[in-house]
Amino acid sequence: MSDIDRDKLNGYIRMVGGSIAQGFNCAISAAGEHLGLYAAMADRDSATSEELAEATGLSERWLREWLRHQTVIGHLDFDAANQRFSMCDEAAMVLADPDSPAFLGGGFDAVLAAMPSVPKVEEAFRSGLGLSYDDHGEACAHGIERLSAYTQKYQLVPQILPLVDGLVDRLRAGIQVADVGCGGALSTVTMAAAFPHSQFTAYDISTHALDRAAANVAEAGVDNVRLINPQEVPMPSDATYDLVTTFDVVHDTPFPEQLIADIRAALKDDGVWLCEDIKSFPTFEQNLEEHPMAALLYGFSVMVCMSSGLSAPGGAGLGTLGFNEEVARRMTKEAGFENFLRLDFDNPMNNYYAIRP
Ligand SMILES: C[S@@+](CC[C@H](N)C(=O)[O-])C[C@H]1O[C@@H](n2cnc3c(N)ncnc32)[C@H](O)[C@@H]1O
Repeated sequence: MSDIDRDKLNGYIRMVGGSIAQGFNCAISAAGEHLGLYAAMADRDSATSEELAEATGLSERWLREWLRHQTVIGHLDFDAANQRFSMCDEAAMVLADPDSPAFLGGGFDAVLAAMPSVPKVEEAFRSGLGLSYDDHGEACAHGIERLSAYTQKYQLVPQILPLVDGLVDRLRAGIQVADVGCGGALSTVTMAAAFPHSQFTAYDISTHALDRAAANVAEAGVDNVRLINPQEVPMPSDATYDLVTTFDVVHDTPFPEQLIADIRAALKDDGVWLCEDIKSFPTFEQNLEEHPMAALLYGFSVMVCMSSGLSAPGGAGLGTLGFNEEVARRMTKEAGFENFLRLDFDNPMNNYYAIRP
C-alpha cells in the first residue's frame, strides 16, 4: 500500500462517487420531470419550496430536498440571499420544453427503464445473448420516442427530406414509403400528415413500439399509415417501395446484413433509402479521444443497443457506435447499393445518408 498515490486515489473516489451520484440524478430528475416540476420552475422567474408547494399541491418538504438536489447537480440556480431557486432559459430548453431541439427529458426514462434489467444483463455477459427492446418494457420505447421527437416532428419534413434530390416532389405526388424500425412512429406520422397522397407502412419488431405507434397514428388522425410487425408479415421482396427510411435502427438490429438486403429487395431501382444512424468514428481510439458523447453512447450500447443487436442467437451486436459512416458505406455496397451520400444536416448525435441502388 505504500506505493499508493493518495491524490490519484482521491481522484478515483471522487470519480466513482460521481458515477454513483449520477444514478440518483437520473432517478430524481425523472421523478421531477413526471411531476411537472421542471415546467413549473421554467414558468416562473424563481421560487421558494413553499411557493412551489402552493403552486403544485405537492409536499413542501419533498420539494425542498428536490430543489436542493437539483441545485447541487447544476440543473437549478440558488439565490442564497433570498433563499430562492430558479431555472435559466438554457436549462429550461434541455429539461422543461419537449418541443425544444435541446430537450433531453426522455433520456431519464430510457435510463431508468434499463436499470431493472441489470440482473438480466449480468446473465447476458455469461450467455452472450442480449435483451430485445421489448425485454425492457414499455417505458424504454416511450423514452426513446421522446428523445427523437424533436427531429422527427420539427426537422424531418422541412429540413431533412429536402436534402434528398427530388424526394419531396415524389412524396407530394404520392409514393409508397416504408419506415422500418419505426418505434413510436412519430417519423411516419409526421411524413404521412405532410404528404397525404403517399402511403406509409411502418414496421417494427417491438410490440411496445407498435403500441406507441398505434396511439400516435390515432392521435394524429392520419389514414395513410399502416403498422406491421415484420416477424408476422415480412417486408415485400418485390421492389415495392419508392422510399425506405430507418431512424437509428441498423446499429440495433440483430441481423443488419439481412435488414440491409431486405431493404434493397423492397426498394424500387429508382428508389432511395434515407438512413439515420449514430455519428461515430471508425476506431475506439478516436471515439475515446474525440467523441463528445462517447460515455453516453457506450452506456446506451451495453444496456440497450448492443444488447438488442445480440438478442437473437448469432446476432451481430454492432452496438450504438457500430454503424458509423465507414461501416455503412461498406455494408450497403456489399448489399448492392451503388450510390451513398452523407447529407449535409448538422446533428450532434446522428448522420443522415441517402443510399440508392
Ligand atoms: C432506437 S429504436 C428507434 C425507433 C425510432 N425509429 C426512433 O427514431 O425513435 C430502434 C427500433 O428498431 C426496431 N428494430 C430493430 N430491428 C428491427 C428490424 N429488423 N425490423 C424492424 N424493426 C426493428 C426496434 O424494435 C426499435 O423499436
